[in-house]
Amino acid sequence: MGKEVVFVIAEAALELVPPEIAGHSAVSRNARRRGKSPVETLLDVSLHYPAMKRLRDREKRGRPDILHVTLLELLSSPLNLEGLMKIYVHTYGDYAITVDPSTKVPRNYMRFVGLMEQLLTVGRVPPNSDKPLMKAYPSTFRNLLKEAGFESCILLSEEGDLKPPEEICGEALNSDLPLVIGGFPHGKFNEEVSGICRSTFSIYHRPLEAWVVASRLAGACEKVLKVLI
Ligand SMILES: C[S@@+](CC[C@H](N)C(=O)[O-])C[C@H]1O[C@@H](n2cnc3c(N)ncnc32)[C@H](O)[C@@H]1O
Repeated sequence: MGKEVVFVIAEAALELVPPEIAGHSAVSRNARRRGKSPVETLLDVSLHYPAMKRLRDREKRGRPDILHVTLLELLSSPLNLEGLMKIYVHTYGDYAITVDPSTKVPRNYMRFVGLMEQLLTVGRVPPNSDKPLMKAYPSTFRNLLKEAGFESCILLSEEGDLKPPEEICGEALNSDLPLVIGGFPHGKFNEEVSGICRSTFSIYHRPLEAWVVASRLAGACEKVLKVLI
């Protein structure tokens, strides 16, 4: 049985403003106010809704807050504090992000946005460190899994077979597979992601927010690994 639980947040709705909408007034106004170039700011549907109307897959994009809350949940969990968790992020635009377990993600959303803009622009945070806490580089989901040492995964989805979180965690540890949670607000996983995972499980008969699923699974793994009684 593996002793470390690996979480992959897949297709996270985190990206810089794409060039095709960089000139839209809803985007340039916000960027100017922050003294940044539009393409160096994060796409955020709460600011850029009018500009996103014609974007492909717009229902899956522009929600950095999902990753923010999910990372806060996972990184501050007892499972992570005990050194029993690894977190990887794959984004909608096919970037891989590695997250050092000691990373302290800012609680404040605007500070998180600034950090993610730096990460996606420079490729690492802190920018000049030899041992960055987070690194970002272009990578498909398949490539990220391979680099992390996995050929398959366990997908969490409202459409999977209902299974208690502790059993899902047990299966991940027994078969040494990562747990994959979607970091997007609406829609389905793309086929590259769903096609690689060998099983798909649901923990509840209705859709849940990504951070709730992450938190329930981390809690279940804490029981399986006897971190919490
Ligand atoms: C807000 S959902 C994404 C949209 C998707 N249509 C949905 O409602 O599940 C965020 C992610 O949480 C996980 N998730 C949501 N509901 C779930 C459930 N009932 N059981 C297991 N995982 C769930 C999935 O990984 C999903 O991609």
